[in-house]
Amino acid sequence: MSYSLVTGGAGFIGAHVAKYLLDAEKQVIVLDDLSGGFEENIPKGAIFIKGSVVDHELLEKLFNDYSIEYIYHFGAYAAEGLSHFIRRFNYTNNLTGSVNLINEAIKYKVKCFVFTSSIATYGALPPPMQEDMVPQPEDPYGVAKLAVEMDLKVAHEMFGLDYVIFRPHNVYGEYQNLGDRYRNVVGIFMNQLMQGNQLSVFGDGLQTRAFTYIGDITPIMADCVHKEACYREIFNLGADKEYSVKELANEVMKAMGIENELRYMEARNEVVHAHADHSKIKVIFGEYDTTSLAEGLKKMAVWAKKTGIKSSSKFENIEITEKLPPVWLED
Ligand SMILES: NC(=O)c1ccc[n+]([C@@H]2O[C@H](COP(=O)([O-])OP(=O)(O)OC[C@H]3O[C@@H](n4cnc5c(N)ncnc54)[C@H](O)[C@@H]3O)[C@@H](O)[C@H]2O)c1
Repeated sequence: MSYSLVTGGAGFIGAHVAKYLLDAEKQVIVLDDLSGGFEENIPKGAIFIKGSVVDHELLEKLFNDYSIEYIYHFGAYAAEGLSHFIRRFNYTNNLTGSVNLINEAIKYKVKCFVFTSSIATYGALPPPMQEDMVPQPEDPYGVAKLAVEMDLKVAHEMFGLDYVIFRPHNVYGEYQNLGDRYRNVVGIFMNQLMQGNQLSVFGDGLQTRAFTYIGDITPIMADCVHKEACYREIFNLGADKEYSVKELANEVMKAMGIENELRYMEARNEVVHAHADHSKIKVIFGEYDTTSLAEGLKKMAVWAKKTGIKSSSKFENIEITEKLPPVWLED
């Protein structure tokens, strides 16, 4: 029997892709260390192995025990802003962990390695970002993503490993971790509203992002392995319409049916405008669904209220405290 391995399948995007694959009657193994995901997100029918991609011995055993045809690699810590302050952890988890997986993919002749990179690879290049721009990541998270992209390319050239790289952006929806103060602005806002707190906004809130509903991109990420035209290519993936963080805050309040004030904080070091061009993926998959922000947030709000308030603990091993935004130090 052949399996699809979904790393990070207890997390947000991974759980959606794992469920989609199971619904399509594929055999799925979820590998997740539960550092940022939840066991209850793992869809029924998946084999769950609790462990980290950093543990190369575990990976060797896993690939020896199961015949793995496709890898969907979502397991990472995606806290872009925090990555400046957890540099070693970021590179170990997100880069070395990915390389461990690429090693096994080469040894066991996996048919295709699907990697979720990020538009963080573009850094502050002018939007709309296009795949043929020379990447200029501005933080360790983006640097690690770019390094994995480059490693996949050389793994193909040397060993023939096929891969598909997606650079999704600002994805939101059901199963997103609501309790991580360092990332997922939509989840943070919903969690703050449920607690009766103000919505924390870095800077003037005029930075823009194109928020992407998970249901619109899941089928593309799952099905790309069956489209040869995707192999060895990089694709931006997500919504076209951008919103400011301030506009987002208002939309989230409407979807939740809860009002509160915005609490403006000192601007942090982040790219101000980030959105991408999606014409390349549309050549292969055509126009894909584009759930409106209001509609997507409504669906997520129903789930968030059912899930309830999540406590947002501090990251335990901050490596550098210089320039750390003060809000991240609050209890
Ligand atoms: N959400 C977005 O907007 C977005 C945008 C671009 C790229 N991505 C990428 O997509 C992937 C999934 O992101 P997400 O938003 O679903 O985050 P998430 O935190 O919900 O999911 C990641 C999952 O990976 C697991 N994980 C972390 N480190 C691991 C390790 N070393 N070994 C095994 N499992 C590990 C976590 O426990 C979690 O369940 C990540 O690689 C992220 O960088 C996400």
